[in-house]
Amino acid sequence: MMGVKPWLWLSPALAHKLSPTVLKSLSLFSPDKPPEWQPLEWRGLHFPNRLGVAGGVDKDARNIKSWWALGAGFLEIGTITPQPQPGNTPPVLGRDVSQEALWNRLGFPSQGVGRIKKRLVEMKRPFLTPVFANIGKNAATPLESAAEDYVELLNQLRGTVDGFVVNISSPNTKGLRDLLKPERLQEFLRPILQKKSEPILLKLSPDMEDEELERVLTISHDLGIDGWILTNTSQGIRDNLRFPKEGGVSGRPLAGRSKALLQRTLRLLGPRRQGRLIVSVGGVMSAEDVQERLALGADLVQVYSALIFEGPYFFRKVANQCLPAKPMA
Ligand SMILES: Cc1cc2nc3c(=O)[nH]c(=O)nc-3n(C[C@H](O)[C@H](O)[C@H](O)COP(=O)(O)O)c2cc1C
Repeated sequence: MMGVKPWLWLSPALAHKLSPTVLKSLSLFSPDKPPEWQPLEWRGLHFPNRLGVAGGVDKDARNIKSWWALGAGFLEIGTITPQPQPGNTPPVLGRDVSQEALWNRLGFPSQGVGRIKKRLVEMKRPFLTPVFANIGKNAATPLESAAEDYVELLNQLRGTVDGFVVNISSPNTKGLRDLLKPERLQEFLRPILQKKSEPILLKLSPDMEDEELERVLTISHDLGIDGWILTNTSQGIRDNLRFPKEGGVSGRPLAGRSKALLQRTLRLLGPRRQGRLIVSVGGVMSAEDVQERLALGADLVQVYSALIFEGPYFFRKVANQCLPAKPMA
């Protein structure tokens, strides 16, 4: 359903800049509690519903309360880096409205963990939904010492969030995806998981070959990862899209790969999945898509592109379709 969406008349960069202000005003007119539908209990956390905000939407944790008011069942803030950094130089954002596709090469613009931690500490507890922090290395940190950035982020944010997402699947930080290669993953991940206080999830790339996926799942499982988020944006998908070669594509064209990776992951894990969290993201554009991912076996679902093409009331729209019908009086 396309309707009138004035934010699509703005340039992607301007819409991105305005969004915090617009969100705050929209959420003023919404109830402040997220709707309950298909709630989930996991490791002592209560998810009022299965649909959450994906990494990158609220990079600096400036709109947590607005997302709750708009109906999100959980949030992933970040990617947060240890030091503040501006990210890549423009152009960094693009969109194709006819195909409901986004393109970005932002490269983790972040206010840095210090400011974000302060914001989290000042928030009233308990949180209305679980909040995960997506963490990433600074662009200037060499790959050899990347694990130190992640350990520092865990140390700094311990006790301020409900869990972490290790992001080594973004295509926009030079060399980052090398850390996800089976040859490097064990050495990189071990010191991070040794520092675990809250659950830690690993975010996967949609551009992984079958064999690579199998090894990555086994290595991370055996080291004690608590779950997986699949997937990040794709560098491989460009069919009929006029986006540059670098950067990552998200939105409707990513749906096929995201679903295939979810199905393969569940098959490869089999009974080893027990107790671990599986979050599906990529090309979820409607309530039917949310239900499809849950039916395929995902515990939770996230969106980014749908918030651009469908708007910030997406969470409430999905809730209205996912709530069990009220019995007639
Ligand atoms: C503009 C933009 C910025 C993003 N930034 C991040 C990020 O900082 N960290 C991250 O893990 N994923 C990031 N993502 C990826 C999303 O979290 C998600 O994995 C991807 O967009 C697929 O979901 P979608 O099809 O619903 O958009 C970003 C995506 C977009 C479009």
